[in-house]
Amino acid sequence: AYSQAQPPTPATGTPAPAAPASQPRPLTEDGGQPVGNNQNSRTAGPNGPVTLDNFHLIQKLARFDRERIPERVVHARGVGAHGEFVSTGDFSQHTKAKLFAEKGKKTPVFLRFSTVIHPGGSPEQLRDPRGFAVKFYTEEGNWDLVGNNLPVFFIRDAMKFPDMVHSLKPSPVTNQQDPNRFFDFFSHQPESTHMLTFVYSDQGTPTNLRQMDGFGVHSFKLVSARGEVTYVKFHWRSKQGHKPATAEEAAAASAKNHSGHTEDLYENIRAGNFPAWDLCVQMLDPKDLGKFDFDPLDATKVWSGVPEVTFGTLTLNKVPDNFFEFTEQAAFAPGVVVPGIEPSEDRLLQGRLFSYPDTQRYRVGTNYLMLPVNRPLAPVANNNQAGAMNFGHTASDVNYEPSVVGGRRDTASAEYSKLPLSGTVQQQPIAKELNFRQAGELYRSFTDTEKTNLIKNLAGDLGQVKNADVKKKMVAHFYAADADYGTRLAKAVGVEVSDVETIAKTLAVK
Ligand code: HEM
Repeated sequence: AYSQAQPPTPATGTPAPAAPASQPRPLTEDGGQPVGNNQNSRTAGPNGPVTLDNFHLIQKLARFDRERIPERVVHARGVGAHGEFVSTGDFSQHTKAKLFAEKGKKTPVFLRFSTVIHPGGSPEQLRDPRGFAVKFYTEEGNWDLVGNNLPVFFIRDAMKFPDMVHSLKPSPVTNQQDPNRFFDFFSHQPESTHMLTFVYSDQGTPTNLRQMDGFGVHSFKLVSARGEVTYVKFHWRSKQGHKPATAEEAAAASAKNHSGHTEDLYENIRAGNFPAWDLCVQMLDPKDLGKFDFDPLDATKVWSGVPEVTFGTLTLNKVPDNFFEFTEQAAFAPGVVVPGIEPSEDRLLQGRLFSYPDTQRYRVGTNYLMLPVNRPLAPVANNNQAGAMNFGHTASDVNYEPSVVGGRRDTASAEYSKLPLSGTVQQQPIAKELNFRQAGELYRSFTDTEKTNLIKNLAGDLGQVKNADVKKKMVAHFYAADADYGTRLAKAVGVEVSDVETIAKTLAVK
């Protein structure tokens, strides 16, 4: 049921007032007219066919036929919740973003967790990165921080994203996910070694969504009122702790209830045991970007050793009133930022800036930002016009700018920051790839049990690969990260360590 007079608001999800269950209201047509008979179709006599003038039947069937919208092309399986972000201080020396302007400042949020590759109804416990997408409804418009639960990504250039996703999704021929296909792809992408090490570790199967950290993954920019830029990475640190599950624990949980992550989240919120995360920020001066032996704007890298400053805490406190209306229609996009927060030049992020609003205009519709879950709390005053399902109203005929009779003006203080540039327009890889070192550091940071689980999980999929060259090349990537890692994996999948070592020596380590 919906009420045009009182639509839900994104901040509270307040539904239209419902009649108490003891006082049933008349069932209506979609136009509000009472329905005379919702039990039987109108027929020509007791044995004749159903008549076309049975408007209620036709409306009911036709509306039902249109209940589905395309599921997200990735991150289809998800669960959302409302909450609140509270700033821990005044960070205006770093950013003019108003949500960080004073201690205790509160901003409503909507958060959606998801798995990446598997479809809408798939078990929530499957091995996959988890999406960690947060929409902040700030006073200067929305900010979407669309991150994952792992700090890096598989690839560093948006050019490779559709290929990667095609290889990971089920085969177009058999409709089955196939390690032969995705390892064929990854054997050409040595930069994926770091992320694959995360995904095949127990971190690829979180125990639940509450005991899981989140990461913005990319570098972004904070911009102060003076125009000073700081490069940052955003980390969500779970107040509940970080608790990966073993493959066996995840499989057992999935067998018990394949929606167990939703159940855990919603039961805790309903019981008042509100889960919370600290937003921790790593900061780098632009002049320090060149000081690393890797590229800090490369999404396959972490900024080890750069301290985290806690900017605030997010608490989830309300289960949405309707799954489709909020969780499914939620549209997050990395380019949706507020003055004081900007995307960096990270090549992967730059591709994402285009992709999300593009898919959302298709998946949800042209005016998707007018829907309650996406609509900013800040007043929207643009010159957009019409389009399917437009229910915004402009009480002015000045839907252009500039104008001598009023209209809207741009805000100089919200202008993008400046970026000095020199060079040649080109298509070249980044200069400092350093594809393997951080993967090796991650492997060596694991306990013996974690290493054993990683090798077992990885061998379970890589062991299925039939092409010997692909298999050896993949093992060589892990060997280049760490000789012990590669040696154990080679033995687990039945390839010669000496072959792997030979290939690893040919791999660039820049
Ligand atoms: C969802 C594209 C990389 C996190 C999506 C969607 C697309 C997409 C088209 C569906 C959006 C929708 O239907 O509303 C891309 C492209 C990428 C990329 C082109 C690389 C060039 C990443 C990375 C992360 C990420 C690096 C993590 C930092 C997410 C999340 C969602 C999502 C969390 C689900 C948002 C939600 O809950 O609605 N992505 N993605 N993606 N992506 Fe990406």
